[in-house]
Formats: sequence, C-alpha cells, structure tokens
Amino acid sequence: MMNTRPDSMKRINTKELADAFIAEQIAEVRAQVGDKKVLLALSGGVDSSVVAALLIKAIGKQLVCVHVNHGLMRKGESEQVIEVFRDQLDANLIYVDATDRFLDLLAGVDEPERKRKIIGGEFIKVFDEEASKLEGISFLAQGTIYPDILESDGVKAHHNVGGLPEDMQFELVEPVRLLYKDEVRMVGRALGLPASMVDRQPFPGPGLGVRCLGAITRDRLHALREADAILREEFDKAELTSKVWQFFTVIPDFRSTGVRDGKRAYDWPVIIRAVNTVDAMSVTVPEIDWAILKKITDRILSEVKGVCRVLYDLSPKPSATIEWE
Ligand code: XMP
Repeated sequence: MMNTRPDSMKRINTKELADAFIAEQIAEVRAQVGDKKVLLALSGGVDSSVVAALLIKAIGKQLVCVHVNHGLMRKGESEQVIEVFRDQLDANLIYVDATDRFLDLLAGVDEPERKRKIIGGEFIKVFDEEASKLEGISFLAQGTIYPDILESDGVKAHHNVGGLPEDMQFELVEPVRLLYKDEVRMVGRALGLPASMVDRQPFPGPGLGVRCLGAITRDRLHALREADAILREEFDKAELTSKVWQFFTVIPDFRSTGVRDGKRAYDWPVIIRAVNTVDAMSVTVPEIDWAILKKITDRILSEVKGVCRVLYDLSPKPSATIEWE
C-alpha cells in the first residue's frame, strides 16, 4: 500500500476531483477486498464517517460498522450515526451502548491521563469483543489520514491511548490515508454526508470524559451534555459554527454558591470554551458578541438543572491548553 503522497497527486478541492477520487477508490477497494468482509470502528467523527460512506458505496453490506457509545458522546451524536448510516445508507451497523461499562470503570477516577487510559483501553475491549462475535472478517478499515502518517506514525488520534488492538490479524483498508483533512471533508460532501457530520469540529476520543473534570459523575455529565447542546444550538443560530474552530463546555468538580427560588443553592459552574487556531498548537479566543454569550448563559441557567454560574474562558494557548484536562 502506498503511504507517501505522490507529487503528481492533485489537491482535491472540487466536487469533480472528489468524484474522481471516489470512483478510483471504489475500484481499488473492490479489487483489494473481493467478496470478503471488512470491519470498521465508526465513531461518527469526520474520518471514520467518510471511510464508512465510501466503503458502503464500494462493497455495501460486506462492510460491518461497529459504533461504540462510551456514554461520553455529545447530545444526539450516537443517534445521528444510527440515523445516517443505518436508516439512510442502509449500512450493516452494530450499535453497542457501553455507557454503564465505561461510567462504572471511571467512577472515582480523577486523574486525567488515567481517565484517558481507561476510556481508550475499554474501547479496545468492547470493539474486540464485538469483532470476535463476527465470523469471516478479513479486513479492518481505518480512517487514517495523511497527517496521521506524517505526524504520528500512522496511528490515529495520537492523543488517544492505543488505537485499535494490535493483535487483530486483519489486513488494513485505509482509503483516505493520503488525504488532508479538507480533502476528506470534500470527499464526504461528494458522498452526500450531512454537513453537520462532514464539517464537525474536532472532538477528542475520550469525549466529554475530559470535560467533566475530575471524577466523572452521571449528574454532572448530564448537566455538561445539556449545556454543550445549548451552546452548539446558539452558535448555530448565530452562524458562528463555521467561524469558530472548536467550542464546548466544561464542568468542574466543585460547587459554587448561588440563589435559586429565593434560597441559597450550592450548584455547579459551567465554563464555555471557544478557540480559533490553524493547527491547535497555539490558539486565540474569539470575541463573541456579548448578547450571544448572555443568551447562552441565560438558557443554561434556566434549562440545566444544578448549574448556577456560567463563565467564558479568555485564556489563549499558551498558556492554557484547549481542553481543561
Ligand atoms: P489541547 O487541549 O492539547 O488540545 O490544547 C489540542 C487538540 O487535541 C484535542 N484533544 C484530544 N483529542 N484525544 C483526542 O482524540 C485526547 O485525549 C485529546 N485531548 C485533547 C483537543 O480537543 C484539541 O482539538
């Protein structure tokens, strides 16, 4: 398999070039796979979604997608994966709701890297278990993209612990391995994937797990997910979604005093984080219109139970990282 982008390869920046790439890959995948089955871990992120859509076109039901919901997804994300891939594209999709497994393992664990290790390790376990229930799988598809090859030795999401099990004895199918992110998005659009999936902002593998600070509890995780959904809804309405590189909410593991229904309450703060960057190495914080921030604050305070305070994080990177842990 070629792992270096040839100088002659054109940048895929038009629908026509994307269509030509898709036709070429369909032929290549069919030749590689024949009538064998291919397994794919479908997170719902841009890369794995584009690979899934491409392979569905090439080999239909010979592709088996496994979507593991680790309980740390944003609101509506697993539902969207099911709707797009099972309902619209008629994919062979196995959905595993492993929420309880992950949250039980994470209970009481407050050290960020330990949380990441648990989430990464358990993900591999769940995926491995599903794979071993299936018969006749010969290939493993992955959404490896060119920056993964250049920057991290072909390992997807270098921040994550591991990737997929090393002892899985499958031949790899990596149709977008020579593409840059913008090209992967272009191909996704040409394949008809929804904009909300193709233009999705980066979302860490450990998901909301590293935004529910300290030891994750179900009630704080729920508040975080609801606040995040409000933030995304209001950014969409204000047409900020495509203008801000990454934005999300964070919930700390301490309470703060507030007043609710005339009584003193002891509830959680929620932090809004929004950043602009080119490469995630250094970031600036956008000046979000006060009225929009106020509207988001009002909605979170009135709609999300247990939250009494909303803050906007003004810290650039450096000195702060994008995520809080
Ligand atoms: P930081 O917080 O290091 O984040 O400034 C830089 C970018 O990486 C993402 N990030 C992660 N992605 N697993 C991932 O897949 C992780 O553990 C992880 N931690 C941070 C972060 O969202 C940002 O886009």
